[in-house]
Formats: sequence, structure tokens, C-alpha cells
Amino acid sequence: MKFQGITGDFAQADADALAVPVFKGEKAGGSELRELDKITGGLITSVMTAEEFKGEAGETALLRFSPKGAVKASRMVLIGMGEKADYSVHSVAHLAGTAVRFLNKRNIKRMALLPRAEGETAEIAQFAVQGCITSQFELDKYKTKEKNEKEVSTFYVHIEGAKASDINRGLTRGKAIGESMNLTRELANEPPNILTPTEMASRAQKMARQVGLKCEVLDEARMKKMGMGSLLSVSAGSAEPAKLIVLRYTPTRNTGKKGDLLALVGKGITFDTGGISIKPAEGMEAMKYDMSGGATVIGTMRAVALLKPTVPVIGVIAAVENMPDGKATRPSDVVTAMNGKTVEILNTDAEGRLILADAVAYAEQQGATRIVDMATLTGAVIIALGNLNTGIMGNDQAFVDEIIDLGKEAGENFWQLPLGKEYSKQIKSDIADIKNIGPRGKAGTIMGAVFIQEFVDKAKWAHLDIAGTAWEDSVRPHQAKGPTGVAIRTLIKLVESSQ
Ligand code: BES
Ligand code: ZN
Ligand code: ZN
Repeated sequence: MKFQGITGDFAQADADALAVPVFKGEKAGGSELRELDKITGGLITSVMTAEEFKGEAGETALLRFSPKGAVKASRMVLIGMGEKADYSVHSVAHLAGTAVRFLNKRNIKRMALLPRAEGETAEIAQFAVQGCITSQFELDKYKTKEKNEKEVSTFYVHIEGAKASDINRGLTRGKAIGESMNLTRELANEPPNILTPTEMASRAQKMARQVGLKCEVLDEARMKKMGMGSLLSVSAGSAEPAKLIVLRYTPTRNTGKKGDLLALVGKGITFDTGGISIKPAEGMEAMKYDMSGGATVIGTMRAVALLKPTVPVIGVIAAVENMPDGKATRPSDVVTAMNGKTVEILNTDAEGRLILADAVAYAEQQGATRIVDMATLTGAVIIALGNLNTGIMGNDQAFVDEIIDLGKEAGENFWQLPLGKEYSKQIKSDIADIKNIGPRGKAGTIMGAVFIQEFVDKAKWAHLDIAGTAWEDSVRPHQAKGPTGVAIRTLIKLVESSQ
């Protein structure tokens, strides 16, 4: 798709369709819509007075009119954006995505978008392009017929009076971020027979080659030597060997705090059967997405490589398959992690924390001073927060607050759950240092976090439980159902804010 910024008269854009956001309760005669209403011969007024279109979030209306004078488009799509007070720069991604998905189905090739958002030019353009690209992702990779049509091939974004250089910077950034989110989503959607830990590692290597990142893959022998008994206990029952994927971004000039290194660590369980503590058959297929945290790290590192911030970032992905087998770990087994702590494994389905234990310890050993781990860690977070908030916990309140605040700017919601000594006590084991589950049915999400915390030494650390937010069960106006690419936009902001 071709992306271009335009600054002249929006009504005269060289497009087949003009896409315009409309807010709830807005009057078509209002200053911003008046001229557009005029070129449609009053159609905006007419659909609004007939209450065919009210500006509610997700609503759409297609107006056809005969262009006159310098106007080229013959269609206008109105996109309802709900309350104006809730509309901000990041809403432009939803707006653009909704418009593109709507027009794709209607044989429209060239569209122009009027964002009507207040903010920095580059950010508006960035969200517009990112929303456009992420709206194009579909689950049809393995369909041989009935592929979704993608008709829109030229996308103009209009920003009144803006500098071309600012728009172009935003377009380039939006493309990098949108495509990286789609890479994460593509990985999360891959079936587990195709995306094994080995395949995940080679996809990461391929991406690293393309964008100029260093990529190192540690095999099981290396991990064994390093003492990663916790991680390896999860792959013990799988015919697929585990891989620890390490991606390194080093800036040409480092303007960050001296000695500071941010690590992004992801749970990459390519399939979670539960192991010997096997899951029920119903719904088990969803567990192909259990590598979403790892895929998030791969996508974010790709974006980082393209955006070239002036701070170093390391990505660590623990790619492992959790299977039952004669060699699988049993409930009651005791293993020793890389930091020397012993773990009594009481439920082999609480495997995410076991692989992250060694992965975060490795990140810190590599010099990380701040660590964010991402994981589809607990069913409990879905019960607590549904699909609207990512659970966040951490050992440093300022760091947690920073991520929550950046999330607000990125349009991603995080909700903090508490940690603390009293919770940590609940994973003390009778026979080893700690056990991998807490009391049945109690604070499941927090139990996962306090377990991982045991493997963080001095670093500031935040844990994102994305089990509820990494996958969308139904199609939305701006995006397909399935993997969402959650947290990437916030993590990019985190990286860039430490420059
Ligand atoms: N991958 C699952 C978490 C999960 C469960 C995500 C359901 C989405 C839907 C994780 O490995 C797991 O199985 N967690 C257990 C932990 C329990 C055994 C303490 C869970 O949440 O039930
Ligand atoms: Zn599990
Ligand atoms: Zn899992």
C-alpha cells in the first residue's frame, strides 16, 4: 500500500473516497463538517437528521454523490467515533482501521483520511498508518480460497498546514510499528505444528537479518550448562527442543543513562497442553497463542531496529513446548533454576513462570537494569480484567506507573495488581525454596508474578499478564479477530522515553 500525507484542501484529495470521523451528537452544520456536507449536497445532514447515523463508536455510513468542481471523490464514508471527549491521537488508529476495512469491501482503491485529532503531526500520521496496516491483517494465511480482498492501495492522510517532513516521519514510523505488530500477530496465529520453538527461533533470526539486529539462539545443551533447570523442566516432555532466543539492539550513539539496559522478556510456549497436569480437551486449541509474549518481544524488537532509538535494548524469548510424555516433568518434581533457587513443581500447567524464571535471570545476567516480561500467564487475569486491561505488577512503583502512563498515550490499558511479602509467602514450598503454584483459586495472577519476582535480583521489573488482551474473540470494525499485538505500542514508547 502507498501512504502519502496531504496538506491542501481535503475535499479536493485525489481519491475515490473521503473518510471522515463524526462524533456523537455532532451537528453536520458545525464548522468542520459544513464544507464536507456541502460537497455531498447535504447528505451528511440528511443521514444525521434521519438518525441513520448518529456518530456512535463503530458506526459507518457510505454517502455517494456527484463530484463538482475540483472535488474528485464521489464517495464519503462517515465513521462514528463516539464521544468527542474520548477522542485522542491514538484513536486515529481505530479510525483509519475502520475506514480501510470498510472501503476494502467496497472496491475502493484510493482513500483520503481526515483525522480531526489534536496533537503532533508525526504522531497523528503514525497512528493513521499503523491503524491502516494493522486493519489489513487477516486470519486467512492457510486458506486456499476465500481470501479477504484488500482493495485499498493508496492511503492519503490529511493534516492541515503540517510540514511534509513531519508527516513523512510519522508515515515511516507508523509503517514500522504497524508491520511489526502484524509480525507478532502472524506468529501468534501460526499453528503449533508449524511454529515450533525451532521455527520461532528461525523466524526471529530471519527478522533480525532483515532489520540489522544481532540474534543468538541458545540450545538445550547451552541452557543446561548455564543451569536453566526450571526452563528445561518444561521442554522435558516435548520432542521439540527448547530455544532461548536473544535479540540485541545496540544504538550507534547511546544517550541513555550510563549502564542502563532495558530487557524485554517473553513467554514463548508454542503450545501448552498443560503437560502431565493436562488441560481439558475443550478449548485447548487456544493454547497455540501461549507464545504471544515471545511474539510481542520479536515484534517490538523489529520496530526498535527500524526506529533506531539511542538506547540499547535486549529481547529474550523462551521458546518451549509443554507436552506430556514419559520424560515429562511430574507434579512433585524439584528442579534448580539458573539463580540457584530450587522449585517444587506442583502443577506442570503453571509452566510459563518456570521458563520466565530462567529467562529473566538470564536477562539480568546479561546486564539488564530494567526488565519487562510479557506472558499469557494466567487464566485468572481473564477472570479479573477480561479483554480490556493487561494485568501489570512489578517491584518498582515508579516503573509500573511509567508503563501505565505510556499505555494511556498509546491507547493500551494496564491495570495494576498488588505484590508483597505476604503474597510471596504463599509460594513457599515444604521441601524446596518455592513451589510453582499458590493456594487453589486464590490470587492466581499475583501468584504467577511473585514466582517470577524470585528470579529478579537488582533490576527494576514489571510483569505484563497479557492472557486476556493478546487475543480478541470477535472481529472489530478496525481489526480482524485473533491476535492483537497488544503492548507493542506501549513498549516502543517505553524504549523511546529512555533516550
Ligand atoms: N497458558 C496458561 C494461561 C491461560 C489459561 C491463558 C487459560 C489463557 C487461558 C498457563 O500456562 C496456565 O495454564 N496457567 C494456569 C496456572 C495454574 C495451574 C496455577 C491457569 O491459569 O489455570
Ligand atoms: Zn499452562
Ligand atoms: Zn501457558
